[in-house]
Amino acid sequence: MNPEPLGNRIVLLPGDGIGPEIGAAATKILRALGDFEVTEQPIGGASIDQHGTALTDEVLDVCRNSDALLLCAVGGPKWDTTDLDAPRPEQGLLGLRKGLGLFANLRPVRPSEALLDASPLRRERIEGTDLLVVRELTGGIYFGDSGRDGDRAHDDCAYTVDEIERISRVAFEAAIERRGQVTSVDKANVLETSRLWRETVTRLAPEYGEVELDHLLVDNAAMQLVSRPADFDVIVTENLFGDILSDEAAMLTGSLGMLPSASLGEKGPGLFEPVHGSAPDIAGQGIANPLATFLSVAMMLRYGLGMHDQASRLDAAVDAALADGLRTPDLSGGEGTREVGTGEMTDAVLAKL
Ligand code: IPM
Ligand code: MG
Repeated sequence: MNPEPLGNRIVLLPGDGIGPEIGAAATKILRALGDFEVTEQPIGGASIDQHGTALTDEVLDVCRNSDALLLCAVGGPKWDTTDLDAPRPEQGLLGLRKGLGLFANLRPVRPSEALLDASPLRRERIEGTDLLVVRELTGGIYFGDSGRDGDRAHDDCAYTVDEIERISRVAFEAAIERRGQVTSVDKANVLETSRLWRETVTRLAPEYGEVELDHLLVDNAAMQLVSRPADFDVIVTENLFGDILSDEAAMLTGSLGMLPSASLGEKGPGLFEPVHGSAPDIAGQGIANPLATFLSVAMMLRYGLGMHDQASRLDAAVDAALADGLRTPDLSGGEGTREVGTGEMTDAVLAKL
């Protein structure tokens, strides 16, 4: 995983809603950081409108032959439907994850000092929070057999030992680089897949002797995340639990608009994207928060292209813009802050770079 410098060919997948606005902002940041070859390709609703499918084989091929992918957001009311046969924007994202074998999703949650008072939690609870959600991304209920049979519907959840082992290793290895603590989250009191999960993670743990492993049931984990977030280091969990817990963890930082993510496979390009969605309610108004996408660019530079210095510079530039008091409307203001739109926030980060 995380091969050293691969090249400079980036595929930008702006997608839907606020995607194109924040994608354009991210392109400016990339231009300021290096000599990248950026190709834009449709995905999600935008691809459905052009090609009738959320991800074409051609786009998947272009992605496969690139060095890193930056995806902004997919989805929106225009394509919401209960028609079983109609294409859905999310299929584009899921198709990329599966098609490129991106099984490891890393979602770091580290509230910026300047935003501590924007958190829904009291400052003393959130202070010191620095955790990493490691979400399994290509298995479980997302990719199991599903269907309708008259008035019955089903979605199967399955996991193999191999799938659990490889994601567990990512978590253990990340913990070694961090504070040496892994919390594995499951529902082993009810689900057989979770019992296999717990058994497998536990069996691997001795190989990583310096890492301390504990287990939490997912309902309890959801509760602990808001009552003592600073106690977590690495959280490893299956696809659906990771989806839910990472939104919860993201909100601890004050806004879903701040959280980046990386999706990596054994080899080939990684996919980098903000955790937030396409926010159709504010699309086109120039007020979307571009920071999660900038932080995703930083993850791309770090994990996808081996450009560690540029990654740190970008992280620092985002922190500095926030420290100056600039806030997009999703970040609640407060004393000494000033509300700005996407353009002004982007210019501020560029100036800091
Ligand atoms: C995410 C999103 C996706 C998911 C959706 C858009 C399919 O919520 O990346 O967390 O559920 O994985
Ligand atoms: Mg989600």
